[in-house]
Amino acid sequence: MPRHPINRSASAIPLDHHLRMVDQLPAIITSQTLFGNDSPLELEIGSGKGLFMQNRSGKHPEHNFLGVEIAYKYAVQAAERLAKHNRTNAIMASGDAEPLLEKSFPDQTLAAVHIYFPDPWWKKKHKKRRVVNPQSVKHIYRILTTNGSFHFWTDVLEYFESAIEMIAAEVPQFGPPIPEEPESEQTEVPAGSNPSPTPSYRTHFERRSRLHQIPVYRVRYDKR
Ligand SMILES: C[S@@+](CC[C@H](N)C(=O)[O-])C[C@H]1O[C@@H](n2cnc3c(N)ncnc32)[C@H](O)[C@@H]1O
Repeated sequence: MPRHPINRSASAIPLDHHLRMVDQLPAIITSQTLFGNDSPLELEIGSGKGLFMQNRSGKHPEHNFLGVEIAYKYAVQAAERLAKHNRTNAIMASGDAEPLLEKSFPDQTLAAVHIYFPDPWWKKKHKKRRVVNPQSVKHIYRILTTNGSFHFWTDVLEYFESAIEMIAAEVPQFGPPIPEEPESEQTEVPAGSNPSPTPSYRTHFERRSRLHQIPVYRVRYDKR
């Protein structure tokens, strides 16, 4: 039995399509088993309140998106965003993403894996709980399609540097990390004046970091 009543939300938005517990997901996760079509599938681990899931699924209706969030409260909030914006190509799952990486995704299934601002687990004895770890990065490489990409952003320099070093040792096939830039959007301006780019935050934590002038470290790995 799931620990929480699901598919209900405080605001009474029906979440039937947009929220599952991880143990309600298909045993084998593909676009076909989850969405009933063959669109490229992207995974976000640790979606928080779901800003990335909302924005990315709107910008890329030709892709499907699965967000996995261990904190039930946030998974519900993220699912509510998706339901409110009628994102039929996106689903939130509440639970731990790591067993899914190991067991649920066949090789060469995902067009992209996104991990933004994972919990830092500062203390030395807790670092093994980090979601970017030797096992997870090997699975991420295995389940990405050729030309698929793994996006990893954080504001914790030590996490960033140790992850880059660990990935080079554990999955050298990824090759060197590719720096990514923050996104910006052109605001509409009257003809003749210069367009001014305004920030477009990928996630809530990116917004928080940038508003407080905290440096953000952004990389992508492409599977060749
Ligand atoms: C610091 S928050 C960042 C949220 C969001 N990515 C952002 O950038 O705004 C990290 C999130 O990862 C979630 N999380 C941590 N470990 C997880 C796991 N094993 N599986 C799924 N979600 C996880 C946490 O509950 C938390 O919401």
